[in-house]
Amino acid sequence: MWYSISLHTAFVLRPHTFPELKNDAFVKAARGEETDYVPVWCMRQAGRYLPEFRETRAGQDFFVTCRTPEICCELTLQPLRRFPFDAAIIFSDILVVPQALGMEVTMVPGKGPTFPEPLKEPEDLVKLCQSVDVNAELGYVFSAITLTRHKLEGKVPLIGFSGAPWTLMTYMIEGGGSNTMSKAKRWLYQYPEASHKLLTLLTDVIVDYLVGQVAAGAQALQVFESHAGYLGAMQFNEFALPYIRDISKRVKAKLKASSLPTVPMIVFAKDAHYAIEDLSQSGYEVVGLDWTVSPKVAREKAGNSITLQGNMDPCALYAPKEKIGEIVKKMIDDFGTQHYIANLGHGLYPDMDPDHVGAFVEAVHNHSRHTGKN
Ligand code: CP3
Repeated sequence: MWYSISLHTAFVLRPHTFPELKNDAFVKAARGEETDYVPVWCMRQAGRYLPEFRETRAGQDFFVTCRTPEICCELTLQPLRRFPFDAAIIFSDILVVPQALGMEVTMVPGKGPTFPEPLKEPEDLVKLCQSVDVNAELGYVFSAITLTRHKLEGKVPLIGFSGAPWTLMTYMIEGGGSNTMSKAKRWLYQYPEASHKLLTLLTDVIVDYLVGQVAAGAQALQVFESHAGYLGAMQFNEFALPYIRDISKRVKAKLKASSLPTVPMIVFAKDAHYAIEDLSQSGYEVVGLDWTVSPKVAREKAGNSITLQGNMDPCALYAPKEKIGEIVKKMIDDFGTQHYIANLGHGLYPDMDPDHVGAFVEAVHNHSRHTGKN
């Protein structure tokens, strides 16, 4: 008996051994260290714009795919076979967290994520699992990360991610996408206490989930507050920012306490211009930006010590390749080549031309190498 316990303990405590990281430009930039060129990756780089992605996904339910580590690994690696991205992001979805809390979520082709039984009133909160064991509920994501980290062979770092509490709350109440988020916002105004309760519950799961991803091999973490723009400054400060802050603080403390590596953390709060200053002081190394803020204004608000990530309009990829090159050049001139990670201001769309994604990546590398360290 004693023997088996000690064996188990040894297994749990021994960190995974992974291949050595060869391209550390992304991690260096994220940590604020000097890089020879601007690292680049794209949100939704593993996605339907790639024919090989559509082929691998064909006929398979979205969340079944998410629960199959070998397929998640394959989908994560696909864009890297085509383009010299400086980071990989694990194929998964932010909505696996509401599933872990006990909610049913399906991905309806042509419609998007759908919750057959969204939260309607505060009484519905009791239906949620009040203490989630992330290893039991989300272990399949951890397995996908470990497998992918091995299969990457140290080529580039692997990014793990989670949705932020407010964005997940919107899905859980709206039951899917929405133009107004009025159902979720009604909660903030009518049931502030229940809203905080739900956001706290989500934060607790997200913290364990992100720590689990690092234990499984994630080398950076991005927190997606994709629906930040629906909140004004006042509501953002009350219902989003405190939880975003809490997540970075608690994840870092838990990583330290478990002797896990401290990894850079990125916060991407879409359309939250009013919050750039606060976000840059919220315990994240990197602030992700959407395309509606100018690089210079963002840098003024964020200060010089933070790394910025973004922010080309994804639709600029519809432009001819030469034009993409010009837009990238201006973007890098405005951000500078240090403390900067190039990306789009949001995810790639399914109808985008992979060649234009390649032109974007190439332009970032070429122009930033050319420009030098400024
Ligand atoms: O390459 C990557 O970025 C990694 C994988 C990833 C996916 N979703 C895969 C996916 C990541 C990081 C996400 C995050 C995610 N999921 C967010 C935050 C980022 C953002 O876009 O703001 C959000 C809001 C979701 C919820 C979600 N999942 C939506 C709105 C959709 C699109 C539905 C549709 O039909 O257009 C999804 C589905 C989804 N997640 C797809 C992918 C590649 C496409 C569906 C498919 O493959 O069948």
